[in-house]
Amino acid sequence: MRVRIAGTGSYLPATCVSNAELSQRVDTSDEWIQSRTGIRERRLLGPDDVPSQMGVSAAQAALAAAGSSPAEVGLLMVASNVLEQPVPGTAPFIAQGLGFPDDVPFMDIMAGCSGFVFGMAVAGALVAGGLVRSALLVGTEALSRFVDWQDRTTCVLFGDGAGAVLLEHSTGEESILGVSLHGDPAKAHLLRVEVGGVRTPVDEIAVRARRHFLKMEGEGVFRSAVHMMERSSREALAQAGLSADDVDWWIPHQANLRIIDALARRLQIPRERMVINIDRVANTSTASIPIALDELARSGRLQSGDILALTAFGAGASYGTVIVRW
Ligand code: UT7
Repeated sequence: MRVRIAGTGSYLPATCVSNAELSQRVDTSDEWIQSRTGIRERRLLGPDDVPSQMGVSAAQAALAAAGSSPAEVGLLMVASNVLEQPVPGTAPFIAQGLGFPDDVPFMDIMAGCSGFVFGMAVAGALVAGGLVRSALLVGTEALSRFVDWQDRTTCVLFGDGAGAVLLEHSTGEESILGVSLHGDPAKAHLLRVEVGGVRTPVDEIAVRARRHFLKMEGEGVFRSAVHMMERSSREALAQAGLSADDVDWWIPHQANLRIIDALARRLQIPRERMVINIDRVANTSTASIPIALDELARSGRLQSGDILALTAFGAGASYGTVIVRW
């Protein structure tokens, strides 16, 4: 059974912070951030806003684009690195915000920045297997609440936002064509928030040492990222019976423009086939691929039958690629 993307949506918070503005808060510069990452500005969640609000807006846009409604959704799956609150997660709040009836299943999925790609594979399989009639997949992220605004090596990299897709049975050629998912647990230390869980609960000493904020070994992540996306892309393409050349639009996780360029060089992808919005939105983690996909879909450049490659890596380390015929 085939599964198609029936609609896409995204949401970006109104507050836009440029590199120049950031350089008044931490010891950095527009020149450093742009040349090392490709980021010019990012959107940040307002002080009273929460990830579920962004997710609801993105989901509503995806449902409207698909001509569907909350009452028709068979499953809600939410990919995120940040929970709205520890229990019961973010999905129920998005279900509430969408006005779901009392019998639709929802769940959160945590697979680092690859969460959306993993969600596409899992939700897609549930739809393809006939276990649910459709799946609303949302990536919503507010990493601005978890970065250390005194740590210039991380705080300049991330932005907030949400993206969503509705997956439905397909009766035509549009479908998920290939999937490759992987994990490398030896790299779990590269990207982490150490404090706040069972192993190390929050206490005054931990907070004073700023260990409740996101920590990253940037160079290690960078080196692994290119290899991971290349490997899973080649595998997912092979499963689909396609080559890199057949892909009309590459939508890579937007973590660093230099990572995207390195992937393009390895797979010999022309720049014009790479969907890039990191300059405007920075790294929105699980939301980065659905936001970029939604912007592409709404730009009118996407044609029926186009082949898309969605490829990501992230904390865990998790990585994966999904190939889709639009
Ligand atoms: O979703 C997945 C999440 N993360 C990623 O994908 C991140 C992957 N890694 C990266 O994107 C890059 O490694 C970074 C952008 C994080 C860092 O770029 P880099 O070219 O690897 O820089 P670096 O860490 O080697 O730092 C070079 C210098 C250092 O100074 P010294 O030691 O040479 O004096 C840093 O202290 O740049 C300094 N630096 C900064 N300077 C100004 C680091 N951050 C900044 C900053 N502004 N924001």
